Amino acid sequence: MNILIAYCTRHGCTEEAAQTLKENLSGEVTLVNLKKNGKPDLSAFDTVILGGSIHMGKIQSQVRKFIEKNVDVLLEKRTGLYVCCMEEKQAQQQFENAFPEELRKHASATGIFGGAFNFERMNFLERKIVQKVAGVTESVYKIDEGEIKRFAAAMDGN
Ligand SMILES: Cc1cc2nc3c(=O)[nH]c(=O)nc-3n(C[C@H](O)[C@H](O)[C@H](O)COP(=O)(O)O)c2cc1C
Repeated sequence: MNILIAYCTRHGCTEEAAQTLKENLSGEVTLVNLKKNGKPDLSAFDTVILGGSIHMGKIQSQVRKFIEKNVDVLLEKRTGLYVCCMEEKQAQQQFENAFPEELRKHASATGIFGGAFNFERMNFLERKIVQKVAGVTESVYKIDEGEIKRFAAAMDGN
């Protein structure tokens, strides 16, 4: 399998999840940050995994735009979809809002991988928002490696 993982990240969590996924997938895996390269050549891949993180309830606009432009091609490939986020109760709804229904139904694997609050990488405003909304004042790390492994196994067809 020739696999593309196309992702967006604000503080590195979704990228770290992409790297862990890569280590757990069989086949040739290429990582592309959609903020740096929004137009990867999809014809080179038979499998495309899309990942993004949730801020103020939404996935990055670059992920949404990438899907809008490529939805027909994506529906012809093997696909996987994941998000990184911290609000456990809202996670499922946020995931559903992040990706269109036809893509969610088509996906071989879907995943909610948890996330992290990394205070060292946040700006002043982000820190204030997280303190107020999540009531958190220190860095928290909650990436779910077991969930990433389950996702990778589903992508591999196991
Ligand atoms: C300013 C800010 C807003 C956030 N808003 C949400 C949110 O609405 N829902 C949620 O589940 N997580 C929220 N998070 C948590 C992020 O989804 C989490 O930090 C994630 O790991 C970020 O991944 P990234 O580093 O790849 O961008 C927020 C984090 C920050 C810093």
